[in-house]
Amino acid sequence: MHRKRQLDGSTSRGQNIIPEAEWDEFYATLQKNLPVTFRISGHRAQAEELLNTIKGKFFSSMLNVKVDDEIVPPPKNLTWYPNELGWQLDLSRKIVRSSESFSKLHEFLVAETECGAISRQEAVSMIPPLVLDIKSHHKILDMCASPGSKTAQLIEYLHGSCAPGELPTGYVIANDSDNKRCYLMVHQVKRLQSPCCIIVNHDGRLFPKIHIKRDDKNPECQLFDRILCDVPCSGDGTMRKNFDVWTKWHPLQGANMHGLQCKILQRGSQLLEAGGRLVYSTCSLNPAEDEAVVCNLLRSSGGAMELVEVADLLPGLKFTRGLSHWRVMTKAGEWLDGKDNIPAHLKTQYKETIYPPTPEEANSFHLERCIRILPHHQDSGGFFVAVLEKKRHLPGSKEEREEMKEASTSEVSADDSKSGAKPDGSNGVTELVEGGKRKAGHVSEQPESKKPKMFGYKEDPFLFMNEDDPIWPQLRDFFGLENSFPANQLMCRSAQGKRTLYFVSEAVRNITECNEGRIKFINMGVKSFSRSPSPMVPDCDFRMATECLGTLLTAVKKRKVTMNRQDAITIMSEENPFIQKLSSDLRNQLNSLSPGSTLFTFTPSEEEKSPKCEVSFCGWRGKNSVRCFGSRAERAHGLMLFGEDLSEINRRVEAAKKAKKLAQEEESQNSGSISVGELDGKLDEKTLQCDVDDASDSNLNEETPKCDVDEAPPNDVGADEKEMASDGHKVEEKKIAALGEQPT
Ligand SMILES: C[S@@+](CC[C@H](N)C(=O)[O-])C[C@H]1O[C@@H](n2cnc3c(N)ncnc32)[C@H](O)[C@@H]1O
Repeated sequence: MHRKRQLDGSTSRGQNIIPEAEWDEFYATLQKNLPVTFRISGHRAQAEELLNTIKGKFFSSMLNVKVDDEIVPPPKNLTWYPNELGWQLDLSRKIVRSSESFSKLHEFLVAETECGAISRQEAVSMIPPLVLDIKSHHKILDMCASPGSKTAQLIEYLHGSCAPGELPTGYVIANDSDNKRCYLMVHQVKRLQSPCCIIVNHDGRLFPKIHIKRDDKNPECQLFDRILCDVPCSGDGTMRKNFDVWTKWHPLQGANMHGLQCKILQRGSQLLEAGGRLVYSTCSLNPAEDEAVVCNLLRSSGGAMELVEVADLLPGLKFTRGLSHWRVMTKAGEWLDGKDNIPAHLKTQYKETIYPPTPEEANSFHLERCIRILPHHQDSGGFFVAVLEKKRHLPGSKEEREEMKEASTSEVSADDSKSGAKPDGSNGVTELVEGGKRKAGHVSEQPESKKPKMFGYKEDPFLFMNEDDPIWPQLRDFFGLENSFPANQLMCRSAQGKRTLYFVSEAVRNITECNEGRIKFINMGVKSFSRSPSPMVPDCDFRMATECLGTLLTAVKKRKVTMNRQDAITIMSEENPFIQKLSSDLRNQLNSLSPGSTLFTFTPSEEEKSPKCEVSFCGWRGKNSVRCFGSRAERAHGLMLFGEDLSEINRRVEAAKKAKKLAQEEESQNSGSISVGELDGKLDEKTLQCDVDDASDSNLNEETPKCDVDEAPPNDVGADEKEMASDGHKVEEKKIAALGEQPT
């Protein structure tokens, strides 16, 4: 009953947010658990391959499954998510426990999430990045980004519109005001292995303008082509997973968030390039946090910002349209109709901007272009999305003033009067500048003379390399890096030791260098080389890192081999297979390579039925054996693409191991003389150390495989995490890695 009373307030029947006839269905849906939703991510060809596997191997066995005599609904495709890559299914604990096919799929999804091939994300949360219409050259800002599920999508789309092997010229800046939450994003973003993303830590309301190098001396301000404002909100749309909302929600929460949301959106609009697109979203159904915030921006922008119709971009998605009229409720549950009737003591809590537009404003604002997704529409959470485009510079902005200098005075004044700008050239917007001072009037970046204060900012430096660095010749010559490979896009976090080198795109490097001391950079770059000296490799102390595979495959010319299907399966499923076990073609290639870090690639032939995509990994060419340097999840993913099942392989290996041990014990009992270890040693003394790790005796249950002592240096999967642990953020990172809670 209590739940219902609160609900009546939140999405009140009087508001008509939920059509009256749908109220019961809406309310019943809120009582049910959210289904599991996920999207297949990664490069196009691999994503298609994975989709085929999921459909063929898992979904086909999930039709007509009964649990407790009830048919479990089959997996449902999210029609509005492109290329059939978004799915929804009921994976409740009860179903997972009682159905083998569902429990296998659950296991599979956990593993594929770990290696980044799929992302579990609430269906409605996938919408904002989708409607941003991202291209590879876009400069993108995610203003309230943590924990980063939408940032991940933005990065994927940025890379998705690039030719294979090419890097986007655009980038994603992922910002959050909460320093700890910024580190949550580090893990999320790391899975995507993109050199085009920067994580920063600012209050979105005060987000500084980004400087970039125009020429050697003069920096210039850069605006963004795409901005996502997925703002903090009361979260009344998340009632199906955040049960706290049922007891803690009250109508004042929306009013309390309204001011912050307005300021973040306002700042977003100032940072948006003319012609650019901005998406405003909340997981609240309350108009105070939704339409009222959008309305406030439309009003102050004097026509520069316009809502865009997006229904066509989301085929099959059910939603209701934005409202042009709503009512305001007090904490005590009373209506506060009319902004002129707010009692004096409530004026600080209920701003005038929380009220609906006038009829004239409503006519020009087109709030019906906003969309509200209601939980019962397609068994999801509640969500609100508004897509805005900037038709011209904001009135009174620095950009407009610059444009005015070039245009004729008469034309500009005419435009001003149309746009509603004030006589002083401002749009009446008060801009907060870093340090908390208010600057009334125009909306330019903060004064150049005053550097923003970097309160509480403490990060290791980002130190870029250049071609004079003593490390560079060994990297260039050993790996045969292309002449065009930019040494100055390699970076480390500590001048001493240079243990790990990270790779960033040209744009990211430019931004990092031009904004040092202005922007609180938290993280950027993909691990590309890590120091791992081996006596067998005197010419180079570094090995390539799997995280940078995408870039290395194009840049590295020397240490690359191609493999056939069977080679790929052998190397990914066994710990240290002997070179003589591999095909003659691969043996020949390996024989002409000295020991050391090596890239392995499988390219499908025309006849190959599956996989139809390339499969590559970073590995090691040892003296007598090779190894794959992928984590267990990465190797399981690779094997899955070849139709192999890692757990099945491991079961076989375990069974063979047991049988062998039993046979040896029996034999030694019969002969009464020789022990198991001695027997192994006698079989192949020369390669004893390899033999210990030989495939027939190994399985891949270890995250970090054992190292063949005279062969590869240890696989330092997780070294970054060790580095991170020093700043106390490791625990948070681990939390997000788990597949428990579904991120919004
Ligand atoms: C709804 S969550 C964002 C979810 C995220 N976009 C995602 O999809 O994973 C809102 C985020 O805004 C952050 N936040 C709160 N106030 C902020 C501010 N003034 N500026 C920037 N971020 C803010 C919170 O720390 C929180 O991480």
